[in-house]
Amino acid sequence: MTEKKTPVPDTQKEPMKITVSKNGPYLVSGGVPLKTEEICNDDEGYCRTWRETKSYPLQQHYALCRCGHSGNKPFCDGTHTKIHFDGTEAGDFEPASEHAKVIRGPALTLADNEHLCVHARFCMRAGGIWNLVRQSGNDEARDIAIEEAGNCPSGRLVVMDNKTGKAIEPDFEKSIVVIEYPARGEHGPLWVRGGIPVISADGEPYEIRNRVALCRCGYSGNKPFCDGSHIES
Ligand code: FES
Repeated sequence: MTEKKTPVPDTQKEPMKITVSKNGPYLVSGGVPLKTEEICNDDEGYCRTWRETKSYPLQQHYALCRCGHSGNKPFCDGTHTKIHFDGTEAGDFEPASEHAKVIRGPALTLADNEHLCVHARFCMRAGGIWNLVRQSGNDEARDIAIEEAGNCPSGRLVVMDNKTGKAIEPDFEKSIVVIEYPARGEHGPLWVRGGIPVISADGEPYEIRNRVALCRCGYSGNKPFCDGSHIES
């Protein structure tokens, strides 16, 4: 006779979270969906859209490579111990808004945390997000600025509506996206979407944000966050 499985009530489900392990992988729990997406250029060569190329089978727990040397990427295969990976964290625990440069336009305000840049380059089109925000009294400029900010994986760029004072954020399903950029041969960070808590190896929580980019090459000077170093690695 087959045993009937009791469905786990929602209240007992393990919450989604990512824990940074000391000099080791990201330990993901709570059944976070994992996929790979590529950055696609438009006809003029500007980064414009995302294309999903792979969706991994859902797992409650998994470990993602943080040292950049796994033979089974994006998953950890234990190589970090062989290469004596130094995963020392240097990321800020304070809210990103505290360090942001602020640019105020007629309809939008831009908060720019340059040190979180991952060089995804969605912000360059149509004169660049900084000019677009300054021209945000124009509806087209406003709409492109909102689109460019929402595509910024790390949340370096956040636009706020001057009328409401609130950030305009894309509505993401909680998920982790492995970023690839084949047009430039770049292997980008892990894009953590939808506000999943990230906990340091010391047990301290980082600010929960809708868009966060975690280093997976091992070379960031701002671990666990990506700082664009994967481009030179
Ligand atoms: S993945 Fe961007 S610095 Fe490591």
